[in-house]
Amino acid sequence: MDELTKELNAIATAMVAPGKGILAADESSPTIGSRFAKLGIDSTEENRRSYREMFFSADGIKEYVSGVILYDETIRQNASDGTPFPKYMQNLGIIPGIKVDTGAKELAGHPGEKITEGLDGLRDRLKEYHDLGARFAKWRAVITIGDGLPTDYCLEANAHALARYGALCQERGIVPIIEPEVLMDGDNTIETCYAVTDKTLHVVFGALYRAGVKFEGMVLKPNMVVPGKKSGQSASVEQVASMTLDVLKKNVPAAVAGIAFLSGGQSDQDASAHLNQLNKLGDTPWPLTYSYGRALQTAAMETWAGKPENVAAGQAAALLRARANSAATYGKYSEQLETAGV
Ligand code: 13P
Repeated sequence: MDELTKELNAIATAMVAPGKGILAADESSPTIGSRFAKLGIDSTEENRRSYREMFFSADGIKEYVSGVILYDETIRQNASDGTPFPKYMQNLGIIPGIKVDTGAKELAGHPGEKITEGLDGLRDRLKEYHDLGARFAKWRAVITIGDGLPTDYCLEANAHALARYGALCQERGIVPIIEPEVLMDGDNTIETCYAVTDKTLHVVFGALYRAGVKFEGMVLKPNMVVPGKKSGQSASVEQVASMTLDVLKKNVPAAVAGIAFLSGGQSDQDASAHLNQLNKLGDTPWPLTYSYGRALQTAAMETWAGKPENVAAGQAAALLRARANSAATYGKYSEQLETAGV
């Protein structure tokens, strides 16, 4: 490995350290705004800031969380004591990360499909984010399952963008999280999810290879293989874990530093139970951990509800999920953890 790859590999390895995962707290202002709105919380800049601070300042969070993905607004905000958030995290030994894509937009000429934007000017933005303390980044590609979807063109266009983003990050000493998310909200079976995830990963890794992305200096953030939410099909924890592991083993080079799953709309408990079973099956060349957004945050957001007097209870809810998912990285998650006090 050359010096840059060694540096990237050290960051990526720390992101997937035993017992730790990544908190995805990088919702754009419109996305967090719609989540707040469902709970009657005003989406002011200060409310978004204090909500995020509730997580970062939860006592003991650093035992379970290796890194946090921030949004452009958040990386420029300060904790209540005036410390910039990236510095606040570094003081805890938590690595600051940053979402750098600018969102998934309609793919022209391909109804029902999306392409993720954000490549223009990315080299300069990465320099600024690195100066602000970010050491890893995230780019999410969205793949929709439907009648005749995804098309090969959609897979190739998104893989191309992920690969260009990955190479630009690594050039700057930033570890790219490569996130090709096959959505789970359709009416497709688990078998179709498997087939689409298989093809997606195949196309993505081909593009990464051609772009010269160093696998040792990246983290993959995939979906799990699950039945579509509207399919009416149910799958056991064992089935989800074994199909997910199978598709990863077929497609992901052993050199990849780690795999950190998205939760994608699974229930909090399912996300923990699936990760747990994946780790129980074990025998993988890469650590398997979490990079959850909703499955780490939903309970805490509901508990907090925008009220300063609920911060401690919100932190307890956040720590419960973080601890459960940390246990799952060891294959030691159990339902008792759901009710035990933190
Ligand atoms: P979810 O875990 O809610 O899917 O979010 C993860 C994420 O970062 C999506 O880009």
